[in-house]
Amino acid sequence: MSRKFHGHWSSRLGFVLAATGSAVGLGNIWKFPYMTGQSGGAAFVLVYLLCVTFIGVPILVAEWMLGRRGQRNPVHTMARLARQHGHGRQWALVGGMGVLAAFLILSFYSVIGGWALAYIGKAALGGFDGLDKLAIAGDFERFLARPMDLLRWHTLFMALTVGVVALGVSTGIERASRLMMPALALILLVLVGYGMSTGSFLAGLRFLFAPDWSRLDAQVLLAALGHAFFTLSLGMGVMMAYGSYLGREVDLLRTARTVVFLDTLFALCAGMAIFPIVFAHGLDPASGPGLVFVTLPLAFGHMAGGVPVGTLFFLLLGFAALTSSISLLEPVVELLEERTPLGRATATVTAGLGSWALGIAALLSFSLWSGVRLFDLNIFDLLDYVTSKLMLPLAGLGAIVFVAWKLDQRGVRAELGLGRPGFALWLLVARFIAPLGVVFVFWSNL
Ligand code: PHE
Repeated sequence: MSRKFHGHWSSRLGFVLAATGSAVGLGNIWKFPYMTGQSGGAAFVLVYLLCVTFIGVPILVAEWMLGRRGQRNPVHTMARLARQHGHGRQWALVGGMGVLAAFLILSFYSVIGGWALAYIGKAALGGFDGLDKLAIAGDFERFLARPMDLLRWHTLFMALTVGVVALGVSTGIERASRLMMPALALILLVLVGYGMSTGSFLAGLRFLFAPDWSRLDAQVLLAALGHAFFTLSLGMGVMMAYGSYLGREVDLLRTARTVVFLDTLFALCAGMAIFPIVFAHGLDPASGPGLVFVTLPLAFGHMAGGVPVGTLFFLLLGFAALTSSISLLEPVVELLEERTPLGRATATVTAGLGSWALGIAALLSFSLWSGVRLFDLNIFDLLDYVTSKLMLPLAGLGAIVFVAWKLDQRGVRAELGLGRPGFALWLLVARFIAPLGVVFVFWSNL
């Protein structure tokens, strides 16, 4: 982060909210359920929970610590800390890969954010009223097949993201999220309640929590690991950038536990809302990225008060996506700002335009370019694969290895405020369990 803008979070609460705002988004409500469905359910969920706990928490702490010490954008932070501790410049790559990943993710994230925006209007006009699964799924498929429609919504979502970042009103957005996030949680609970009324709630729970270990293979391990990074905004320099605003007094471990707990809660609630509907209507859990946009409209079309509840849901989902997308744009903008002569506003528009253009390729993979494939993946899936399953875990690995092996450990212990046994446990996790976990998953995929 550039020094001239350097302030600090007003309080630990403010920081928790901003970090949670970045973490909770489409990853929890759109991506987690459809990946769970594609990966066969509970085995994926349990590995994901393990990854979040033993890899996510320590890497979150590591990224915040690096950001707080470096006080710059991720690339410069890593370069500076490496120099201070007598290590090579190549550590800057960890930051650089993260910023590139953020840029790539924003491109397709904005496409899905656009879907959420489009569905606000559909819900408000009662577009799901009384429709059955075929009608709702057909409607969604036709939506995907109209690239100009997708483009309009993708453009609107990206424009909102760029506008918020360029006008520097992200703090306002984050303040608003104090209200919006709890409201989203509340609606999810209402939907979980609806799930209970479908008669298939237990089937949903079983799918989510009773593992069929035969479904566990190297692919599922990698999917769960990658999603742990994606959902916690790790490996992208995002949390590092946030950490650079963090006051000395904030307890990193405690804060990480809070953020990870909240993030996981949102994801599991989304799962408990969606899978009962999947089984009640005989839908295919493995149907892919459209899962949320077919299941929840079915609920809105059949429940009492479905129009206001549905409208509010997609509005809040769009909002949650926005608090995540602004955090994706931020590190790219900071880097451009510090490395090029561009001012803040121009840097923001440039980064946004680039990501928007790439997003067009992503949205075309649902229609005209569905046949454009590399390694059997379309452009959308390829962007997701390369970022979530390769770049994020690698950048995260770099961050934790640097903190656990390259920093002066006395300072780290003081910073974490841990006694001897606590710090021994930290070292065990940060030096061995987390990095070896990542390496193991990669290795099993080779
Ligand atoms: N964590 C966000 C989500 O789950 C996505 C995101 C990734 C946001 C990376 C910022 C950085 O939706």
